[in-house]
Amino acid sequence: MAIHVSGDLYQIGESIDGTDGWCEAVRVYVLLNDGHPLIFDAGSHLHTAPVMADLKALLGEMKPAFVFLTHTELPHTGNMSAIAREWPDIEFVVSSGILPHVELPWWVKPESVSFGYPGTDEVYAGRRITFLDAILKDQPGTHWMYDARTGTLFTADAFGYLFPRSADPYLDDQLDDGIPADWLRRYHEAAFRFLKLSSGTKVVADFDRVFSNRDVSVIAPTHGNAIRGNLGQCRQRFTDVILEICR
Ligand SMILES: [Fe+2]
Ligand SMILES: [Fe+2]
Repeated sequence: MAIHVSGDLYQIGESIDGTDGWCEAVRVYVLLNDGHPLIFDAGSHLHTAPVMADLKALLGEMKPAFVFLTHTELPHTGNMSAIAREWPDIEFVVSSGILPHVELPWWVKPESVSFGYPGTDEVYAGRRITFLDAILKDQPGTHWMYDARTGTLFTADAFGYLFPRSADPYLDDQLDDGIPADWLRRYHEAAFRFLKLSSGTKVVADFDRVFSNRDVSVIAPTHGNAIRGNLGQCRQRFTDVILEICR
């Protein structure tokens, strides 16, 4: 079932059971955009049936025009073909850093692909979307996106967290005390194994610059629920975790 996050932003998607009872989310976000929905990432191929059912229930008669891909790993692109089968006119907006002929499925036609360039913005179905390079990524061409109308920063793999199954449906402001630092640490340690070779102060400074340059009120990570409550607390915990993991 789609979860309303803020404004016209909704979250769908499932999660995967990991080791020792820790789960990892694989979310998809949708901006309803006055009847011209924009989809952010396509979800995992492991979750095609529920993702498509939730998308169709959320959109009803509305036809989405664009799917924005943060990067081309399967958990983010796994339902591209199901989405394209359902809405054949859909266009995929991808990072200019990817090699589309290598990283996108062979059946994607060049005319169905357009590029987002970091540091620029474009209007899609009347909505201005800003593209920025991803600060934390596990694939070179990854980009983040920002929607000023809802203040949402789509952060791909960054700001994910692992959680016990019972926490699956709850956003940060529905938990007792936000997202625990331990959940953020478990995820980032596993997802970005290079972090321990990185300079924590440099990573934190880069993140601070991203947040000081735009008015962010929602963080939308793929591998966690949308963060919309106490962003200051979450960012402080994230900073502490990064400094702890990095050298
Ligand atoms: Fe990734
Ligand atoms: Fe991912």
